[in-house]
Amino acid sequence: MSKFIAKPAFSLAGNLQIPGDKSISHRAIMLGALADGITKISGFLQGEDVLSTLKAFAAMGVKIEQNADKVTIYGVGIFGLKRPEKPIDLGNSGTSVRLISGILVAQDFDSELIGDASLSKRPMGRVIEPLSKMGALISSSNGKLPLKITGGQALNAIDYQLPVASAQVKSCILLAGLYARGRTCITEPAPTRDHTERMLRGFGQQVNSSGNSICLTGKAKLTPTQIQVPADISSAAFFMVAASIAKTADITLPAVNINPTRTGIIEILQLMGAKISLTNQAEIGGELIADIRICNSKLKGINIPEALVPLAIDEFPAIFIAAACATGETILTGAKELRVKESDRIQAMADGLEILGIKNSVLADGIKITGGELQKPSAIIQSHADHRICMAFAVASARCQHPIEIADVDNVKTSFPNFVELANAAGMVIEG
Ligand code: S3P
Repeated sequence: MSKFIAKPAFSLAGNLQIPGDKSISHRAIMLGALADGITKISGFLQGEDVLSTLKAFAAMGVKIEQNADKVTIYGVGIFGLKRPEKPIDLGNSGTSVRLISGILVAQDFDSELIGDASLSKRPMGRVIEPLSKMGALISSSNGKLPLKITGGQALNAIDYQLPVASAQVKSCILLAGLYARGRTCITEPAPTRDHTERMLRGFGQQVNSSGNSICLTGKAKLTPTQIQVPADISSAAFFMVAASIAKTADITLPAVNINPTRTGIIEILQLMGAKISLTNQAEIGGELIADIRICNSKLKGINIPEALVPLAIDEFPAIFIAAACATGETILTGAKELRVKESDRIQAMADGLEILGIKNSVLADGIKITGGELQKPSAIIQSHADHRICMAFAVASARCQHPIEIADVDNVKTSFPNFVELANAAGMVIEG
């Protein structure tokens, strides 16, 4: 089984180009495929999750050329997809399944979505329920993969109150709404990442956002465009934490996406006392970017404001490492969504922190972590094949006196294929 051995590293420096944003890369492929004509993408993330999305549309007859981070999509229009010859395998990617299901329910062909062992355990009822309300026909056992979709259904718009703060569910309904008769409106319990709304506007689709409600009118036509994908703040987060906990550090991460629905990591680390500054703010293709500079700091434990949870939902494994290196207690509540990510991230992190000698207590919807010294591990840390658990424990080596061994790290390729290379360029010593 693959593993990382992350050796102690105390001094980090450099200017690190973080790869493209995963959420934006997925959406660029999807909307590009549904547009009428050619869309060109640069800065595309070459991670397995987005490659699953790319292959799914290629399997539905969309010509897509990829050359490293440059992608050209020959869009077929919203009704131009072809029946795939076999079930579409979306690997480890929850975003692919949830968003693509919103498109497939409106096609005139049948389809089936499958995934790997982790994805097959994740809840899909959250998309089946609203899509069925719109008139979709989906069968699954227990709300899990495989999803069998019967095509040829006419969709009606809905007015839907999201029960969970989920950008994936919101985006799924918005995509189905493109095909529906009437005006689809979604109200979120709290703001979540709004890349779908922004990008739909970039493709010429009117999307109205007001307070926590988002509406669009169906029977759409998307106009192709050019998309420059900014660096992914969720990948940048590992270096923000590494630099914050290291003995000495001065790291700059250029042109990172700072969409306000994604910047919870910056706010949480700043509340903990991190030294983070943003310069060169600009806008590219409807998304905000900035250079982020992080220096070493003395972190203190905090009560993480619940309003920040959806805005940092993927960053908690890294934030828990920051909490482990902070003075005092950090308390997270209102985050039970973490239990249904690529792994149960509350339990997986709690177990790993325990191995490193960090006291913590698991709550139904969060965790309490008491900062301390990271000790020599008495056992190997189990990542549960979750990319973000692997990278979180790898950057803990910026504070640990002993090597940290992490098992089952292959899935780091799903979101951050050159993580080890960049980490080592910054001064970390990660073998694997
Ligand atoms: C994503 C939304 C989030 C996030 C996931 C990517 C997206 O999931 O965890 O990694 O691209 O829409 P939820 O919206 O289900 O919280």
